[in-house]
This record gives sequence, structure tokens and C-alpha cells, in this order.
Amino acid sequence: MKRTKISEIWAPELIGTDVCVKGWVRTRRGNKHVQFVALNDGSTIKNLQIVFDMEKFSDEDLKPITTGASIHVEGKLVESQGKGQTAEVQAETLEIYGTADPETYPLQKKGHTLEFLREKAHLRPRTNTFGAVLRIRHTLAYAIHKFFNDRGFFYLNTPLITSSDCEGAGAMFQVTTLDLNDIPKNEEGKVDYSQDFFGKPASLTVSGQLEGELGATALGAIYTFGPTFRAENSNTPRHLSEFWMIEPEVAFNDNMELAEDFIKYCVSYALEHAADDIEFLAKMYDEDLVERLKSVVNTEFVRLTYTEGVKILEESGHKFEFPVYWGADLQSEHERFLVEEHFKRPVILTDYPKEIKAFYMKQNEDGKTVRAMDVLFPKIGEIIGGSEREESYEKLSQRIEELNIPMKDMWWYLDTRRFGTVPHSGFGLGFERLVLFVTGMTNIRDVIAFPRTPGNCEF
Ligand code: 4AD
Ligand code: MG
Repeated sequence: MKRTKISEIWAPELIGTDVCVKGWVRTRRGNKHVQFVALNDGSTIKNLQIVFDMEKFSDEDLKPITTGASIHVEGKLVESQGKGQTAEVQAETLEIYGTADPETYPLQKKGHTLEFLREKAHLRPRTNTFGAVLRIRHTLAYAIHKFFNDRGFFYLNTPLITSSDCEGAGAMFQVTTLDLNDIPKNEEGKVDYSQDFFGKPASLTVSGQLEGELGATALGAIYTFGPTFRAENSNTPRHLSEFWMIEPEVAFNDNMELAEDFIKYCVSYALEHAADDIEFLAKMYDEDLVERLKSVVNTEFVRLTYTEGVKILEESGHKFEFPVYWGADLQSEHERFLVEEHFKRPVILTDYPKEIKAFYMKQNEDGKTVRAMDVLFPKIGEIIGGSEREESYEKLSQRIEELNIPMKDMWWYLDTRRFGTVPHSGFGLGFERLVLFVTGMTNIRDVIAFPRTPGNCEF
């Protein structure tokens, strides 16, 4: 018999028909006359109740059905008597695929802490919480592709292995095939990269933007959506060493409007298409979640300059852990103060000091600031970082020189400014930060299946 997914089983026309379901047992309870099994197959947060009439089954048959066991059941789908359920299966046949010894299976039905589950990342997708998070993550990924496709953006795959440092922060993972126990040296006693795989130093990318600009200045509007790597030693609830970033890049465009439309679209898509999972997480962890998501969709984001933002922070009288002054790189406590305490809605902060931003940002007339744009969110702080790009060859190459970025590595990037340069802009959305916001989780390690952070590369 063809299997029906539990997400599909609630269709009214299936009532009264014979069905086949397969999944993992969440719980079993009952008495000597009847046993109830809550079955989940990962397709939905909702468990399906399977009813075993103990006149048809023996204790021996059901003994292997413990939490975590995988089973295949066929039987009739009937309207349920139980509260909150619309349908249940009256089991006729039972096949056990795999048992899960209660003595050693780590996920018993009692609620586990998120910290405990992080140690069990290979099994935690089977919990309600991580099932919900991973389905919401998928829904958001789909929404992102749909948003851009519907607006005529082309999906560009930029390289993961690179020889340039887009953000200039120097926090890159090196890629090499040299024997680290026997490194070839040149005449100056330095590593001889001519013998390395690519014939020069290479790293994992911190951003696909530079190649994204090559795409945008040809196709008009592109976006990337791929893994991104940062070797910063940041052990915070908002940083991963490997995360996913979405980077649209557009010629002739209003960046702020795109960012605001984009993020609102993603959040409202999730509210509509992942409602059950969002409601589950709201109930378990964060009762204001749905309200917060709706409020982001329905309010206009504040737009103000970094200079104005710093003034508000300085005049707030609030005690911050990190000092705030014009020129300081804002910390998440500052960002969250503006969003959560002062404006009570998302903020797009623009025109940052050039010293704290990357080389490629368009320089303002004042000679001090650049056309940067960060989108700041409640609970998260910075969720998007972007800018208008410097399109003048002279100004860009001068900035590259000032920052001692090796010009010879940048020739291909500078060519976009030499040939048919155009005003263009783009931004990067940290995918996990979006998933954090939409799920209401508070630690970024809990919104990616297998997190990589300093000192942690298990699974
Ligand atoms: O602000 P960032 O560093 O900007 C860039 O990389 C630009 N090249 C983007 C562009 O203009 N195309 O990073 C962009 C976003 C941040 O706002 C944040 O959401 C996320 O990426 N991000 C991280 N997320 C998780 N872990 C980390 N270590 C992150 N670093 C940045
Ligand atoms: Mg940033």
C-alpha cells in the first residue's frame, strides 16, 4: 500500500479509508485493552495517534514500540475521539523497522534542555523543537528563492574557495594541500605557495559579494545563497564559523527598499506557510513570537544615519558595557537599544564612518562616511549588512591603496569600474539570523542542523 505522509493525513476525504503510515514513535501509553502510539514522520509537527486494539495484538508485538523506534502501520483512518486530534489510525498490521533501546536512546520523552540537545546534534532533528526549526528554515530558504525569482533576479553561484578577502577582516580559513609537517619554503624562508594546489594562497570565502558584483554588472540583478566562512573567535549566540548568506546585488537600484521588502516577504511567507511550527515554538519558548513577527511585517522600518543613531545612544543616559562615541563600531547592545528601547521597530542605519566599513563602499561627499546600510532587528541586532558600492575607478583604487590591499589581486574587480561602470548596491542577509528571528530561538547554534563554532566541529 502507498504510504501517506502524516502532513497529508488530515484531509477529510481520507477518513474511513485504509492508510499506510511510517515514522518514529514519540510515545506509547495505554492499558491492557488498548494502546496508543504517537507517531511522527518529520513531515509536520503534528503526531498521528495509532490505536492498537489489544485483542488483535499481543504485548509481545508491541514491546519493541518504545520512544524512538521506527514502525510501519496499516489500518483504517477514523475520526478521533481524543481532544485536539481530528483523525487516528486503527492499526491492522504492524512492522517494526528498528528498535531504540530505552536504556541507551538519548531522547526520552521528557523535555531536554537545548544545551543537552546540542551535544546530540545527530539525533536532535527528531525532537519537536528541531523538527519545527528545520522545517521553518526550509520554508524560509524557499521563500528567498521565490522572492528573487519573482522579481527577475538570477541565482548566481559564487566560489567558496577564493584568493581575495572581501570584508578585509582577515578572519579567513586557509585552504591548502601542502604537507603541514613539511612546508616548502622559498629563498626568503617564507612558505612557497607556488607549490600549493592553486599556486598561491587560498581561503574559504567570507562573502560572495565581489563576484556577485561581476554578475550584477552583467545580468542587472543577481543573488547568491551559499555557505560563508569566518574564522573569528566569536563565541556569541549570534556568530557561527560556517553560516549561510544571501547576497543580492543590483545595478541602478534602491537598496534600502529592497532590503525591507525582502525581509518582510520572508517573515510573512513563514507566518503563512509554517504556521503550525511557529505556533509550536511560540507556545514552548516565546509567547510574544507571533506578535513580534507580525509587527515587523506591518511597520515601516526607521531610517536614520549612524551619526544620528550615535547621538541618540549618547544622550540616552543608558549604561552600556561598550562605550559609544562617533567612530565606534556599534555592538549588539547598542543596536538593540535603538531597536527595542528607542524606536521599538526595525532600524536601517546608514552612512557609517569609513574606517569601520569595508573598502568597496561608496564614499560620501563629507570624506568621512560611506553609503553603508545595516538593518537592525529586535532580539538580533544586525541582521543585514550592505551598501552602495564605490563605482568610481579612481576613488576605489585609492581606497584599496590606503588600506594596503594588494592591488594585483584585485585587477578583475577593478575592471568592473574601468569598463561600463554603473551605480550599484547590495547587501548580505545572515540566513541563520533570519531563522533565529522567525523561530524565536535565542542561540544561533540551534537554528542550523550541525553548527560550526570555535572548538566545535563534531557531526
Ligand atoms: O555585514 P557582513 O559582514 O557583510 C558582508 O559580508 C557583505 N559582503 C554583504 C554584502 O554587502 N553583500 O555580513 C552580512 C550579514 C550580517 O549582517 C549578519 O547577518 C551575517 O551576515 N553574519 C553572520 N551570521 C552568522 N555568523 C557570523 N559569524 C556572521 N557574520 C556575519
Ligand atoms: Mg556587518
